[in-house]
Amino acid sequence: MPTWDAQAYAAFTDERARPFVDLTARIGAASPRTVVDLGCGSGALTAGLAERWPTAHVTGVDSSPAMIEAAEPYAGPRVSFVQADLVGWRPAEPVDVLVSNAALQWVPDHRALLPALVDALAPDGWLAFQVPGNFDAPSHQALRAAAAGPAYVAHTSEVVRPAVAEPADYLAELTRLGCRVDAWETTYLHVLQGPDPVLHWLEGTGARPYLDVLPETLRPSFTEALRQRLAQAYPAQPWGTVLPFRRLFVVAQRQAG
Ligand SMILES: C[S@@+](CC[C@H](N)C(=O)[O-])C[C@H]1O[C@@H](n2cnc3c(N)ncnc32)[C@H](O)[C@@H]1O
Repeated sequence: MPTWDAQAYAAFTDERARPFVDLTARIGAASPRTVVDLGCGSGALTAGLAERWPTAHVTGVDSSPAMIEAAEPYAGPRVSFVQADLVGWRPAEPVDVLVSNAALQWVPDHRALLPALVDALAPDGWLAFQVPGNFDAPSHQALRAAAAGPAYVAHTSEVVRPAVAEPADYLAELTRLGCRVDAWETTYLHVLQGPDPVLHWLEGTGARPYLDVLPETLRPSFTEALRQRLAQAYPAQPWGTVLPFRRLFVVAQRQAG
């Protein structure tokens, strides 16, 4: 599990919010009472769920103390935050809507969690999650190539790579678990501005496990090696730097009875 820096993660708020919006738009719940956001991060998107469903109490769950601290200002009468590992998390009562955006990929073998997540739902409850599907993209190839450099490999070789399944696999598994499933994928073309934007993007997410394990003295040269690879893979254009980003979406409704 990497450490999180809420400020670095917030650098691309609009781009990172878009899949959350696209995911939750497909949840058909009309007036849920209990909504849970697993791996909620810094809380702004979680709080938006309380606005969408004025009858709901919304709970954000995240294992990172930094993220929970950043989320606290969004807490209120209908929004609360809990620091906990989503792997062992079980609700006190059945949940009407369970959301997880850009978090499950950090949980090794998260497919094994699906039965427990479906079990946590009320009859007719909804499970909606989004995970990145870009681990073979040039950005991640650049990360792995930089991390394999002779100066870094002794530190980085044990870094666990996030992994996801294909949408059709999630669909098959959740259907077997008694859900009606809507699964799809989208490749966003983010147009990023400023110098080295893909590096800054990765510093908020994908590069964190590598930066975490490197001694402080090696981080600047590692970052520079990564910067050079990314600048080649994602050349700046007059309109900005285009970062194609594939994401996988699953919205499942538990079928009562
Ligand atoms: C990329 S951020 C996404 C945050 C938020 N859902 C969003 O869409 O902006 C991933 C979040 O998942 C959390 N996370 C990762 N593994 C977790 C686990 N096992 N239990 C709880 N939270 C976890 C991290 O702490 C981080 O806040």
